[in-house]
Amino acid sequence: MEKLKYVKVDLNNIDLAFNIQKNEWPNDQDYENFVETARFGDEKNVNFIVYLKDKPIGITGVYTEDLDPKSMWLNWYCILPEYRGKGYGKQILFDTISYCKSFDDIDYFRIDTSFNIKRASSNLYLKVMDFVEKYTAEDDENYVSGNYICSKKLKENIDYVPWNNRNLHLREYYNNTKSQESDN
Ligand SMILES: CC(C)(COP(=O)(O)OP(=O)(O)OC[C@H]1O[C@@H](n2cnc3c(N)ncnc32)[C@H](O)[C@@H]1OP(=O)(O)O)[C@@H](O)C(=O)NCCC(=O)NCCS
Repeated sequence: MEKLKYVKVDLNNIDLAFNIQKNEWPNDQDYENFVETARFGDEKNVNFIVYLKDKPIGITGVYTEDLDPKSMWLNWYCILPEYRGKGYGKQILFDTISYCKSFDDIDYFRIDTSFNIKRASSNLYLKVMDFVEKYTAEDDENYVSGNYICSKKLKENIDYVPWNNRNLHLREYYNNTKSQESDN
């Protein structure tokens, strides 16, 4: 398989990254996240444009949550439709996991997702990730998140620590970005 190239999203290429994001999530786009990460991010909070030779084919990224410095999370991961079904998505996910593994103090790779077996991503996560848990921390009579947390241990000699419904404040976030997931 052709080697993919990862270029950090910065203030110069941010529009390219945003166009890829917007194409996939027209109702759930988050330009601010790219701006903030480009300005104030670090090696553990960063987004990438993925290139096949000189063609941008998708985006991926990682972030951390203050409440668990041992986990890194997948951010804005997608492939442009014309490049799907060729193995690039799996390769990018593995490359992103390897990137997280390169940090000595990171033990877990996690994904917050709306799980649906009809989605290619859900299928892929079931193959690659170790555990899937339902996230219900913010559910009440007016709101059901429907999200799942997929986790993968990055080291052999550690215990599996589930996410265990620690509050991710997704409700507030998705209300702000007017969430609407695609069914891909
Ligand atoms: C998820 C995504 C990145 C996968 O990219 P891709 O390049 O098509 O994936 P690959 O060709 O590497 O396939 C990897 C696995 O995905 C699953 N998959 C891919 N296409 C699929 C389809 N049409 N239906 C069901 N599963 C599919 C399969 O499990 C496949 O593994 P296999 O090749 O061993 O069968 C891509 O579909 C995408 O961008 N989707 C929209 C954005 C998205 O949902 N992002 C995740 C947000 S949490």
